[in-house]
Amino acid sequence: MTLTWTPLTPKIGAELQINAAELLDGSHAEEIRALLVQRGVVIARGIGFDDEQQRSFTRTLGELRLGRAKGPDDSGLLKVSMDRRVNPDYAEYFAGTFFWHIDGTYETIPPFATVLSPRVLPPEGGQTEFANTYAAYEDLPADEQRYLETLQAVHTMQATMFPAVPDAGLEDFKVWMDYPQPTYPLVWQHKSGRKSLVMSTSASHVVGLHPVDSHALLTRLMAHATSDDYVYRHRWQLGDLLIWDNTGTMHRARPYDPDCDRVLHRFTLKGEEPISPVAV
Ligand SMILES: [Fe+2]
Repeated sequence: MTLTWTPLTPKIGAELQINAAELLDGSHAEEIRALLVQRGVVIARGIGFDDEQQRSFTRTLGELRLGRAKGPDDSGLLKVSMDRRVNPDYAEYFAGTFFWHIDGTYETIPPFATVLSPRVLPPEGGQTEFANTYAAYEDLPADEQRYLETLQAVHTMQATMFPAVPDAGLEDFKVWMDYPQPTYPLVWQHKSGRKSLVMSTSASHVVGLHPVDSHALLTRLMAHATSDDYVYRHRWQLGDLLIWDNTGTMHRARPYDPDCDRVLHRFTLKGEEPISPVAV
């Protein structure tokens, strides 16, 4: 049976018309992977997976990412929550989740995709937004595309976390500075040949530009890539299943009352290609 879906917005997102059994049997896995890369975000409502079902479904799409030092347990499950009772070792790290980012910019090969499902939701707020960085690149004028393809940016944990922790002290900076500070091209040429912008709050500065020009360029590109045309805002309902392509989108959480619980369970797929510059 053919996979049926409808667009969520003109440039990002697809909603599947599918049930839990059809997701679990893997018969549509190749089509879902292709749709994910094409649309950036794929959702299905009313699925209601438990952890084991969510894990099994994720494995139909690729290889699970396991065993990060401060992340998923041995099953690959990561509980996304700011609540220390849910997530004692990891809660403060999620402060950065309210700013646009790509996951895993400190890994040699960033994760391919993540499968997310809510377990506890706040009464208001806490939506998750996604921005399509393929479409944002493709809509730029050709001369600007060519210029951006020549540039690289340095990504740091300080750049990621400082907006989230504006009263950070020296101890915080010492921890952040222990992370790798990789340099990536501003434009990623994927194995498929398609190109996307490599934008994230983690981008500290553009190599070789004056700091003022670097800041202006990164600010302008971030504003462009996260303008309404490229963004899908997901309003969570219990039972939802959401998959995003981490290599062709950015994401962020929207604020919610910190006294309310919000717990999302996620399984992540290993990355399959490094961030590569455009071949010249
Ligand atoms: Fe994230």
